[in-house]
Amino acid sequence: MIEIKEISAPEAYAIRKDVLRENIPLTEKMEGDFDEETLHLGLFENGELGCVATFMPHESFHFKGFQYRLRGMGTHRDHQHKGFGKAVLTSAEAILTKKGVDVLWCNARVIALNFYKKSGWSIVGEEFDVHLVGPHYVMFKKLKDA
Ligand SMILES: CC(C)(COP(=O)(O)OP(=O)(O)OC[C@H]1O[C@@H](n2cnc3c(N)ncnc32)[C@H](O)[C@@H]1OP(=O)(O)O)[C@@H](O)C(=O)NCCC(=O)NCCS
Repeated sequence: MIEIKEISAPEAYAIRKDVLRENIPLTEKMEGDFDEETLHLGLFENGELGCVATFMPHESFHFKGFQYRLRGMGTHRDHQHKGFGKAVLTSAEAILTKKGVDVLWCNARVIALNFYKKSGWSIVGEEFDVHLVGPHYVMFKKLKDA
């Protein structure tokens, strides 16, 4: 059985650390993890956590309106390419649309661009480097016209 529900920040740490911090000397903890408006979602398969993502208010100069930023998007290595990531994004979009969010955006690793494109996200701006992590693009999805 698949279930997507709100989780705490510490519940997201193990998957974040494994898939997003491998060979990268940065903490899996993120600024804003414990802010009231931050949302952490987890996808559970038969009670086991398989995918995590975090959504927090954050403004980028690229966009107008009420913005949320996606961070810490990760699927357990044993469960990638099973639709978990896409399901978490779909669930988040529904929750954030209800909150009145206009734009959801993220700094997307180049290796994940097609994952986001498959969920209807677009690139804006030029490639840039995130120190110790590598090349990224800003990607976004409009949840409503801002
Ligand atoms: C990127 C990641 C979150 C995708 O999660 P996932 O649960 O494996 O993705 P899904 O199975 O929901 O894939 C959804 C679609 O995207 C595609 N996709 C998934 N990962 C992809 C990738 N790295 N490159 C290209 N396409 C990808 C899938 O084939 C699928 O396509 P379909 O809808 O045509 O079947 C996961 O691979 C991961 O944790 N990677 C390591 C951490 C990372 O890079 N996170 C993103 C940082 S910005």
